[in-house]
Amino acid sequence: MKLLVCGGAGFIGSNFVRQRVTEHGDAVTVLDKLTYAGREENLAELRDAPGFAFVRAGIEDPEAVADAIEGVDAVVNFAAETHVDRSIAEPDAFIRTAALGTFVLLEAARARGIRYVQVSTDEVYGSIEDGSFTEESPLLPSSPYSASKAGADLLVASYHHTYGLEALVCRGSNNYGPYQYPEKLIPLMVLNALHGDRLPVYGDGQQVRNWIFVEDFARGVGHVLAHGAPGETYNVGGPDEAVNLEVVRRIIALCGASEDLIEYVTDRAGHDRRYSLRSEKARALGWEAQVRFDEGLERTVAWYRDNRDWWEPIRSGDYRAYYERQYGRALGR
Ligand code: NAD
Ligand code: DAU
Repeated sequence: MKLLVCGGAGFIGSNFVRQRVTEHGDAVTVLDKLTYAGREENLAELRDAPGFAFVRAGIEDPEAVADAIEGVDAVVNFAAETHVDRSIAEPDAFIRTAALGTFVLLEAARARGIRYVQVSTDEVYGSIEDGSFTEESPLLPSSPYSASKAGADLLVASYHHTYGLEALVCRGSNNYGPYQYPEKLIPLMVLNALHGDRLPVYGDGQQVRNWIFVEDFARGVGHVLAHGAPGETYNVGGPDEAVNLEVVRRIIALCGASEDLIEYVTDRAGHDRRYSLRSEKARALGWEAQVRFDEGLERTVAWYRDNRDWWEPIRSGDYRAYYERQYGRALGR
C-alpha cells in the first residue's frame, strides 16, 4: 500500500509510520511541517526504506499536498497542534491547522477519490463523570484544542455525507510511550523525576485519563484504515484508567525519585475531569489493546532513561522558554 501520512514526524505519527514500513512493507510519504513537536529524527531509521519519502510542508499548503498525494492509495492525517495548555495560551495555530489544513487534505483526497482517515481524540466528547463515551455520544469539547479537533471531525463527516468521500474518523484516548514530547504529563514527569526537578500537578491531581500505549493506538489506526467502513467513527481507547496523582506516584517509584518533588500548581482553565472511551466498534474490526498500563509505563520510563540523545536537545532548547511561561519557574529549579 502507498500511504500519505500527515504529521508523521510527531509522537503517534512516527510510531504509526514505523509500524507501516516495518510490519506491512508500505511505501510511505510523510508530510510534516516540523513544528516544535515534529522531528525528522523520529523517523531516522526509515530514511532508506523502500518507498519512504519525507516532505516538509504544512497540510494547509494546497500545492505541497497536491504533489505529495500523487499516486497514493490513502491519506492518514495525524497533523495537528496537540497540547491543551498551548491551545489555552495561543489558540491560533490550532484552528488554522485543524480547520484549514483538514479542508485542504479533504479537497485533495476528494479530487482523487482516495480513502482518508482522520486521527482524532476522545476530548471531542468533553468530560464524563461515570460510564464511558461511545461513538454516538454528543460532541461537547472544552478547550480550543478539543473544539478544533471536533470541528475537523465534522468537516470530515460532511465530505463523506456530501461527496461520498471514503472518509473515516479514529478517536484515541491518552497515548503514552516512546517519542512523546515532554510537555505532556507522562514524559514531563519522567524527565523531571530523573533530573530531581519539581513535579507540577494541576489542581487536586484527581483527574482521570484512559491510557493507551502508543503502539496499540497506532495499530488501531491501521485497523480502521484497513477494515473500517467509510463514513464511520471508531473509538480506540486504552485498557486502563488512572488518576493523575497515581500516575505521578508510579513514575516517581520507577525513577527512584522522592514524592517530595510533587508540587500542586494552579489548575488548567476548563480542566476536563475524566475521559473514558468504549471501543467495541474497533474491537469488532479485530483490534485489541495488548499493553496494560503497568507494563507500558515501565517500558516508557526505560525508553526515556535509555534515549538521552533524543530528549537532551529538547530540554536544552526552546522548551525551556515554554516551560518557564507555563510553570512560572525555570526548568531545573
Ligand atoms: P504531536 O504534537 O507529537 O505531533 C504532531 C505532528 O504534526 C508534529 O510532527 C507536527 O510537526 C505536525 N504538524 C503540526 N501542524 C502541522 C501542519 N499544519 N501541517 C503539517 N504537519 C503539522 O502529536 P501526537 O500526540 O502525535 O498526536 C497526533 C494526532 O493524534 C493529533 O491529531 C492528535 O490530536 C491525535 N491524538 C493524540 C493523542 C495523544 O494522547 N497524544 C490522543 C488521541 C488523539
Ligand atoms: O485524551 C487524548 C488527549 O490526551 C489528546 O487528544 C491530546 O493531544 C493530549 O495532549 C492529551 O491531552 P491531556 O490534556 O489529557 O494530556 P496532558 O498530558 O496534557 O495532561 C494529562 C493530565 O495531566 C491532565 O489532567 C492534565 C494533567 N497535567 C498535565 C501536565 C502537563 C498535570 O497535572 N501537570 C502537568 O504538568
